[in-house]
Amino acid sequence: MKCMKSDFNWVGVFLQIKNNILTNVCPLLKAQNESQPDLGTGAGGDKIKLVDLEAEKATVEILIQQGISFTLVSEESGIIEYGDKPRECYITIDPIDGTTNLIRGLPFYCSSIAVSHKPFLSDVYAAMVADLFHGNTYTAIRGEGAFRDGIRISTSTIASLNEAVMGLDLNTYNTKGIAHLLSELIKATKHIRHFGANALELCYVAEGLTDAFVDIRGKLRTTDVAAGFLILKEAGGTVSTAEGKTLDSRLDPKQTLIFVASGNKKMHECILKLIKPE
Ligand code: IPD
Ligand code: CA
Repeated sequence: MKCMKSDFNWVGVFLQIKNNILTNVCPLLKAQNESQPDLGTGAGGDKIKLVDLEAEKATVEILIQQGISFTLVSEESGIIEYGDKPRECYITIDPIDGTTNLIRGLPFYCSSIAVSHKPFLSDVYAAMVADLFHGNTYTAIRGEGAFRDGIRISTSTIASLNEAVMGLDLNTYNTKGIAHLLSELIKATKHIRHFGANALELCYVAEGLTDAFVDIRGKLRTTDVAAGFLILKEAGGTVSTAEGKTLDSRLDPKQTLIFVASGNKKMHECILKLIKPE
């Protein structure tokens, strides 16, 4: 089994993974922008999980073909060790982020994969988020910048909330608990959005399409954001806790987090000032 040297071509492997996911998931779909009422039942008995499991299988297949020994940290199957040196390489994935969008034919879903030597967010050094509908591939290697389809991307310079387009995730949350923390921010922000696949939304901030993304529900798993955070930081963005502290966390499918992600430091400060964590 391969030992991962720092010059290993992760981007090449990511592209193979993306292609294998598309090859295995697309035949299950009627058309990518149609609703999919009859996708069957996944291993967990969950009606909407078949595509997630196929995408996970397609990812693992390529890693094994490449002779990589790794510990898989997956939103779907949990933690599984492969090969003889699994503690030297952690592969954190959300095989499909935005499953509801995919099932409903909404054109916004992706696969997310992050690579680290240790099971911590701060240790992630290579990442890909693949937009499975539009075909765009976002990648980053720590210290080398962030790219969309091989072209360098950078974050927005907009620093004022009254010009901002900001992602805000309030999905399936008892808003009572956090509404009062967000009301000033919502009032001050020109445009609020939520597209429904947080890994891809972080790439939109990385690319400067949006100016920030905030999720303080305490529901989002590290598997959803491990790749997106590296891509955003490499594109020049800032990520922190809602108190402005450095964000780190164990990479574990059960581990959730709260975060504020912005295109630039000034925007970040504006947002933090208006969120008042208890
Ligand atoms: C979901 C998406 C969504 C967020 C949910 C996540 P999934 O991921 O990222 O935007 O609001 O909390 O669970 O379930 O489609 O992988
Ligand atoms: Ca998922």
